[in-house]
Amino acid sequence: MIKSPSVWPLKQRIEFPAVRLNGPRILMRPPDPVDFPAWAALRERSKQHLTPFEPEWHEDSLTRDLFLRRIERQSRDWKAGLSCSFLIFRSEDQTVLGGMNINNIVRGAAQFCTLGYWLGEEHQGQGYMGEAMRLTLIYGFNTLKFHRFNAGTLPHNGRSIKLLRRFGFEEEGYAKSYLQINGEWQDHILFGLTEDQFQKSLNISA
Ligand SMILES: CC(C)(COP(=O)(O)OP(=O)(O)OC[C@H]1O[C@@H](n2cnc3c(N)ncnc32)[C@H](O)[C@@H]1OP(=O)(O)O)[C@@H](O)C(=O)NCCC(=O)NCCS
Repeated sequence: MIKSPSVWPLKQRIEFPAVRLNGPRILMRPPDPVDFPAWAALRERSKQHLTPFEPEWHEDSLTRDLFLRRIERQSRDWKAGLSCSFLIFRSEDQTVLGGMNINNIVRGAAQFCTLGYWLGEEHQGQGYMGEAMRLTLIYGFNTLKFHRFNAGTLPHNGRSIKLLRRFGFEEEGYAKSYLQINGEWQDHILFGLTEDQFQKSLNISA
């Protein structure tokens, strides 16, 4: 009997394209099973910092099993054209800094996606996410041929709002009870960025 891919051991089903995004100080690439210890340790240290802005963490949130299941799903979704998931590393020593996810990719007349991102607490305030955002937007507009990026933030997430505005994202709406964050349905500010707006923001910051 020929085994179907769905019954292969989890690790064997994790297969991402060899995409690498390189910036001056960071490298972005899809997650790998070997990243688990550093990823889990960083998120454990950053728990107080991250949980107010993420879907509720459960008891098994930082287990190896859940990490492998998550990245197996991410690799399937990448293959299906639904999302692209990256971890962000400091180039000089390969320290895991955080993550960037291009989610909800819609093609056809839409050609858009939604961004999700996080940094470990100790890596905030050093410009790493700015670099990751720049690489992601260039990859999205140039390689994936998106027409727009969407992003939603909690109204009090000042750092995230500042980051989005820096790259030309504009506020486009207010969605009541939009996402379940930290266990509660919470309102979000909706931001959008078209390629034209991104080009303008690059010209202004150049
Ligand atoms: C949202 C989040 C990723 C933003 O991170 P951030 O550290 O503010 O963003 P950057 O990495 O781009 O850093 C920018 C800051 O670094 C400073 N900085 C220091 N050195 C720098 C350098 N070499 N280059 C650029 N900026 C530098 C900037 O001045 C800026 O500081 P300021 O905001 O006090 O003006 C982070 O706050 C986070 O992970 N939050 C929790 C999760 C979350 O909210 N996710 C988003 C949900 S919508």
